[in-house]
Amino acid sequence: MGIVVDHEKCQKDGLCALDCPIGIITMDGPEGFPAPAADFDELCINCGHCVAVCPHEAMTQGGITPRQCLPLDAAAGLNPEQLAQLLKGRRSIRRYKDQPLEQSTIQRLLDMARYAPSGHNVQPVKWLVISGRDKLLPLAGIVVDWMHYMIAKHPEVAVPMHLDLAVATWDAGEDRILRGAPHVVVAYGEKDNRMVPVPCALALGYLELAAYSLGLGACWAGYFNFAATVFPPMIQALDLPQGMAPHGALMLGVPKYRHQRIPPRKPLEVVWR
Ligand SMILES: Cc1cc2nc3c(=O)[nH]c(=O)nc-3n(C[C@H](O)[C@H](O)[C@H](O)COP(=O)(O)O)c2cc1C
Repeated sequence: MGIVVDHEKCQKDGLCALDCPIGIITMDGPEGFPAPAADFDELCINCGHCVAVCPHEAMTQGGITPRQCLPLDAAAGLNPEQLAQLLKGRRSIRRYKDQPLEQSTIQRLLDMARYAPSGHNVQPVKWLVISGRDKLLPLAGIVVDWMHYMIAKHPEVAVPMHLDLAVATWDAGEDRILRGAPHVVVAYGEKDNRMVPVPCALALGYLELAAYSLGLGACWAGYFNFAATVFPPMIQALDLPQGMAPHGALMLGVPKYRHQRIPPRKPLEVVWR
């Protein structure tokens, strides 16, 4: 749909051209106004940067006007200390209250997660939200079946992952697969597409932080996701659309208790060149 430049408002500062990741906005239009390059429609990734960066509300791209964008209130952002508390203070939550979240709350979290970056702005992440222990416990049971299979057939994988321990606790009546969470959120997308796994992981990372910011808890469901990618009964049970595969999953709910301090992490390993 190209770009539309409001010549009344445009100051010809060239920010739209500078910020275009593909370099398909030129300042060679009539009277020096911005104009799309010949291959604009073919190459534009609809990232909206040209609309977002213009201080004069002069740019419309792909039918998106400046007024249709969300307002950006820089002053409302976190300062570095607050952001550090958010990033360092988030913990994996493994004990949940028996209290389901409203669908609108999960929707709010997903709405934040969908702003995670993706290569070429393809936004490939799709979501499956599974709610209720009546649905989740049977799925955890299938993960345990997968663990039995791995222990028997692939001890080289099962031993370092301590799958025997997870099975033993399951047999003792404790769910260490999904930790009693009332919801599991699966990020999924095209199966054999290199552009999909990283954006899914990033979106889940955003989701986890978003949950923490609302006083909620989340934890990566690594066993669950492993089984969901390789174990036919689990793949069948998840029943994702044809050609799709899970690329990560998070447990989600209300934490039973709060952490009081931030545990230390390994020192940085950095190569400075
Ligand atoms: C890819 C991935 C898979 C994980 N899988 C599980 C899991 O299946 N069960 C679990 O309790 N924690 C899981 N975790 C959480 C990690 O154990 C946790 O992030 C780590 O111990 C650090 O603790 P923190 O998240 O509280 O900082 C996983 C984390 C990641 C990134």
